[in-house]
Amino acid sequence: MSAATLGAYRADISQLISDFVAAERPAFRFVRKNATLRLDASWIDDILTLQAVSADGQTILRDRAYLEDFFARGTDTIFGITDSAGRLVGQATTKMDVTLPSILKSSFNEASGAERHAIIGCVTVHPDARGQGLMGKLIDLCLEDAKSRGITDTHARVKLGNEASLKNFLKKDFSVVATGPSPEDKARVVDFLHLKM
Ligand SMILES: CC(C)(COP(=O)(O)OP(=O)(O)OC[C@H]1O[C@@H](n2cnc3c(N)ncnc32)[C@H](O)[C@@H]1OP(=O)(O)O)[C@@H](O)C(=O)NCCC(=O)NCCS
Repeated sequence: MSAATLGAYRADISQLISDFVAAERPAFRFVRKNATLRLDASWIDDILTLQAVSADGQTILRDRAYLEDFFARGTDTIFGITDSAGRLVGQATTKMDVTLPSILKSSFNEASGAERHAIIGCVTVHPDARGQGLMGKLIDLCLEDAKSRGITDTHARVKLGNEASLKNFLKKDFSVVATGPSPEDKARVVDFLHLKM
């Protein structure tokens, strides 16, 4: 075998080895335990897993494409809470500067025209972590975030009969301002909640 052929073989083999190592190496992500976090796109699998075991038919399910688009836009926030193993056990979304659905427009007298509305949604807590006040913590994170960005009014929608969720929003001084079909899914009847910040 000529020296040139041997050199070409060596180059092929070393490329094969580096491809194999790259394929086997897991993507690195530093996972904090017992933490509250602002999630990024590296959490999409965890968000989908949490949603699959925790939504209980109470939230509108988001798919991977929705979440990829959400993080790519970068204008809104998903907060998360991890447990002592670093597993995502709670999440909530705040969308900034949303347009009010027509059912709510009549509830507000926006005299100054300077109001800015946010909506908190997709609040989910893993069944193993319920009853420990995590939803209250998630609402606080969303409200602080909205406030820090100059939001003046925050909303949420709770499916009729979801007492655990409703109770949490009422505890944070939200009030029910209307009841009717969800703008995202007309088959779902929801309470529309509002908080003046
Ligand atoms: C609604 C939800 C987010 C509440 O989360 P949470 O962190 O458990 O909220 P809390 O800790 O305040 O608990 C809610 C109530 O359930 C009770 N609870 C206690 N243990 C519980 C358990 N193992 N499982 C469920 N609820 C429990 C709590 O006592 C509390 O009632 P209380 O305030 O009278 O004590 C959670 O149940 C959930 O993810 N549900 C499915 C999705 C959903 O409904 N999202 C809201 C959409 S608007």
